[in-house]
Amino acid sequence: MSATEPLPVNDQTPEFQDEILLLHQGLLAERKWISSIYFYDTEGSRLFERITEQPEYYLTRTELEIMRRRGDEIASTIGREAMVIEPGSGAGEKVGLLLRMLRRPVAYVPVEISRNHLEASARVLAREFPAVEVLPVWADFTRPLDLPQPLRPPARRVVYFPGSTLGNFEPEGAVSLLRNFATMLGAGGTVLIGVDLAKNAPVLEAAYNDAAGVTAAFNRNMLTHLNRRFDANFDLMGFEHLAFYNEAEGRIEMHLRSLRDQIVDIAGARVNFVSGETIHTESSYKYTDARFAALVARAGFRLEKTWKDPAGLFSIRYLILEPGYEITV
Ligand code: AVI
Repeated sequence: MSATEPLPVNDQTPEFQDEILLLHQGLLAERKWISSIYFYDTEGSRLFERITEQPEYYLTRTELEIMRRRGDEIASTIGREAMVIEPGSGAGEKVGLLLRMLRRPVAYVPVEISRNHLEASARVLAREFPAVEVLPVWADFTRPLDLPQPLRPPARRVVYFPGSTLGNFEPEGAVSLLRNFATMLGAGGTVLIGVDLAKNAPVLEAAYNDAAGVTAAFNRNMLTHLNRRFDANFDLMGFEHLAFYNEAEGRIEMHLRSLRDQIVDIAGARVNFVSGETIHTESSYKYTDARFAALVARAGFRLEKTWKDPAGLFSIRYLILEPGYEITV
């Protein structure tokens, strides 16, 4: 395949009407919320990349540091000839590090809702790893999906889920997502996952209120995205960024706070805001070891290994599907 020829993409994207239904449900609820998937249009993805470079946002560089320091051990734990599945692969930067560490990986399956990112990263990785079969899937990874079969049978299937993205799910949603991974993986399946750790509030709050204002721009960009995609009329000057640590729930919360009474139209619904009212746009859960172990057990996984940085800011975990795991509906 030439470097410019597009890779075939397997389309499993959700219906537009389903999206509208969920949006209306969130915005007409007593405590307003919008799914954090709407952060990630082209501009939002670019802003997120910039967040990961901010000095206050320790997550990405700490995870990469763990991968670099403990790479050999991680690679030998996963073993040879793995098929790597990456839900929400984004720009596909971290996986390059993993594929380089692994012994003879057979296939890489990026699963991504942004078609631009999916195609671009699949092309780059296919070029960099010619011996690895790249099988891109265009889909919302929170829904059940069919995994493409690689030509060479893998010795192991491993879901790679870095970046503490699991933290963006409510605990029930995190369990469902892990169960979804279990169904997709089948017997012997494993997960290599990045998990941010609970710590003191000032460090956490600084990470979501960077001095350069990139996280604020990322949060507010969601409104621009909704205006374009759902023909909404959010006034960008009418909302401000708000992020704080909710200690009781163990999560950072991001909100957009209305600066005045206002009415917004979105895809056929009218939404009233009073001054000071917020839309909850994201939760980012921070786990203790005990809470994380309990969570994965509920999804049928055994926590096999944990790697942390010396300061104990972040962790990478290796989960194995318990033998005899059965999907119950
Ligand atoms: C993608 N996710 C893990 C990020 C986080 O830290 O929860 C998203 C983010 N939100 C604000 N800053 C970064």
